[in-house]
Amino acid sequence: MPWPHKDLLDVTQLSKEEILLLLDTAQRFAEINTRPVKKAPVLKGKSVVLFFAEPSTRTRVSFDVAAKRLSADSFAIATSGSSLQKGESLADTARTLEAMHPDAIVIRHHASGAAQYLAERLACSVINAGDGQHAHPTQALLDAFTLRQAWNGELEGKTLTILGDIAHSRVARSGVDLFSRLGIQVRLCAPRTLLPPGLASWPAEVFTDPKAALAGTDAVMCLRLQLERQQAGLLPSLNEYAARYGLSSRLLAAAPDALILHPGPMNRGIEIASDLADGPKSRILHQVAAGVAVRMAVLHLLLTRKP
Ligand code: CP
Repeated sequence: MPWPHKDLLDVTQLSKEEILLLLDTAQRFAEINTRPVKKAPVLKGKSVVLFFAEPSTRTRVSFDVAAKRLSADSFAIATSGSSLQKGESLADTARTLEAMHPDAIVIRHHASGAAQYLAERLACSVINAGDGQHAHPTQALLDAFTLRQAWNGELEGKTLTILGDIAHSRVARSGVDLFSRLGIQVRLCAPRTLLPPGLASWPAEVFTDPKAALAGTDAVMCLRLQLERQQAGLLPSLNEYAARYGLSSRLLAAAPDALILHPGPMNRGIEIASDLADGPKSRILHQVAAGVAVRMAVLHLLLTRKP
């Protein structure tokens, strides 16, 4: 199937067939990551700019590793140390980068829509590495990849509970769309103040009681409490939030076999207890490994597409 998309802005632009092609391609690339020599000449001569205007460890490093493993050259710029600090606009920065003829720009930005704004103005591929509260498509893809591996390819009919700060989460927005289209039944659970407006149109069941949300679930994904995006007054206190909504062994008694995911970075002791994050049911480091394979697949499909 020829890949039709110049850019990856959100999972909503992908058909189910394209999602499966991406996951299958990632599966093939995952093998490269276990070889003694972790390199394939697939993207030799291509160059990728990593333009991260917000902090990131997993996404930035895994895109960098993915590009290098496929023999592309990668260049990183961040707000700190770039002319963004002197007030240069997003469009001017992007046009300046494009004048150096990269094949793709991977962008993380605090403004929802920043990736689309660039995609409409640049000839090179634009990949959304997380824009504001809007979308994080490669996170949703790597989460689906992780679950598919854990469940031997069987996603249809499984239940995933997403627990935590849904209101501020681009991970939840992209994830709900992708998981539901792969046949996973999604449950969302948060205190009322951390549920976004318009949830009625999301393909998910909504809960405020974590015990009810977790009952019999096959997997739970804890979301980081995004303290940097919170307005005052959304929570009575961190301690009360942790006691009621933090994933603990007590809470998980409702689903003792459930797999545990977290996109990271974690607030240990707030949305997830350390013994669970590091325990046998945790797939958190599998998610990180999946991130490299999925981002290899994204770079490969976008950069080898025939216009
Ligand atoms: N999950 C995720 O996007 O992590 P980073 O912020 O470390 O990239």
